[in-house]
Amino acid sequence: MPKKNQNKKSVENILVISSLAKKAKEKDASVINATAGSYYDESGNLKVFDCVKRVFDNPNYNTILSYSNSKGTLGFMNGVEKWILGEDYKEEYSNYYFKTIATPGGTGALSLSLGTYLESGEGVMLPDIMWLTYLQIANNLGINAHTYKLFDENNHLNLESIYSEGLNLQEKYGKVCLLINDPCHNPTGYSMSENDYLGLIEVLNKLSLNSKVILILDIAYLDYSNNQGKKTREHFRLLKKLSSNVMVLFAFSASKTFGIYGLRLGALMQMTKDEKESQLFENASAYFARSTWSNTSHLGMEIVESTLNNASLKEKFVVELKKTCEDLEKRAYLLIDELKKYNVPFAPYHNGFFVLLLVNNPAFEKELEEAGVYGCHFGNGYRIAVASISQEEAVRLGEIVGKIYQNY
Ligand SMILES: Cc1ncc(COP(=O)(O)O)c(C=O)c1O
Repeated sequence: MPKKNQNKKSVENILVISSLAKKAKEKDASVINATAGSYYDESGNLKVFDCVKRVFDNPNYNTILSYSNSKGTLGFMNGVEKWILGEDYKEEYSNYYFKTIATPGGTGALSLSLGTYLESGEGVMLPDIMWLTYLQIANNLGINAHTYKLFDENNHLNLESIYSEGLNLQEKYGKVCLLINDPCHNPTGYSMSENDYLGLIEVLNKLSLNSKVILILDIAYLDYSNNQGKKTREHFRLLKKLSSNVMVLFAFSASKTFGIYGLRLGALMQMTKDEKESQLFENASAYFARSTWSNTSHLGMEIVESTLNNASLKEKFVVELKKTCEDLEKRAYLLIDELKKYNVPFAPYHNGFFVLLLVNNPAFEKELEEAGVYGCHFGNGYRIAVASISQEEAVRLGEIVGKIYQNY
């Protein structure tokens, strides 16, 4: 094995802890497994949306088991573009070219974006509090990981840090590639405000005077933010203020939106004013796909395509998604109320699957495990996946955390 691959070892421990927690819960039902980034219903089963059941109940084997093509089906690509940007996106963004390609999850979309737009030896800017898989994707491609501070002193997006790190990247590589995870940032649950977006656009426009800028928006949790992502979709409209030297890549996850984690489906969507860039994206992304995963789950695509291109199915799905978001929010705030009662510090949370406790102490984590609570150590904190616990567990977990925290 060449040296460059000999030190490759997964940086994240989440899947390991998750399986430990699962085993512990099999032995003792009172164990709380708050490790998984997947939405479980109140009875502890993976949430299955009706639109997913529908395809499983009525399988068209000639479709779902056959090969798709490397780009994905037309219905999938169009459905996803409308889903992310709105039914009227062609009029709303009339000066732009959009190209979308199906990927194995949001992970595949992120890997494709870095692999296509950066040379090995170039660099990407990642938030200092982050989903660690970003580091692994960059490292796997020989891309240098730089970090910007996610929060400023007022707990808003740290625009100064993004600007200064952007200048640094420009000096080193002659271009800027920035990754933003919004809404429902993993692991904090922070969702950017309109002011964050306006400030970011100003910073990127300033940077774009000197070089090309690539903005990768990891929107894996788009549909779990305020009003199922309505607010964030309004913020996307502000991206029209970006200079034409800035290209936007949206990394979408069907795992999260449709709860089809194991089917491995997502999409990378490019938004640019430059026709040539649009053509280059179409060719190079399909080439990347064909030479790595070839094509993605046709079953997954059938679920997404048949739902998003049928007005009444789509409407039903939106209603179900809304209820899921409301339930998620209840859990999060039940937990947060307990954390506040016991003065346990946590990162700014707005919505999403996770709450990050700002407690960085292995002994604290060990005590939690002994009390039957499993979360994940994450950077300088401890991540609780509210998506995977019930409301009752959210309260109980908060109480256990609070009581143990008193000793620290
Ligand atoms: C921040 C973030 N981005 C992207 C993903 C991609 O998930 P998937 O590859 O299952 O779509 C995840 C999954 O946990 C995530 O937490």
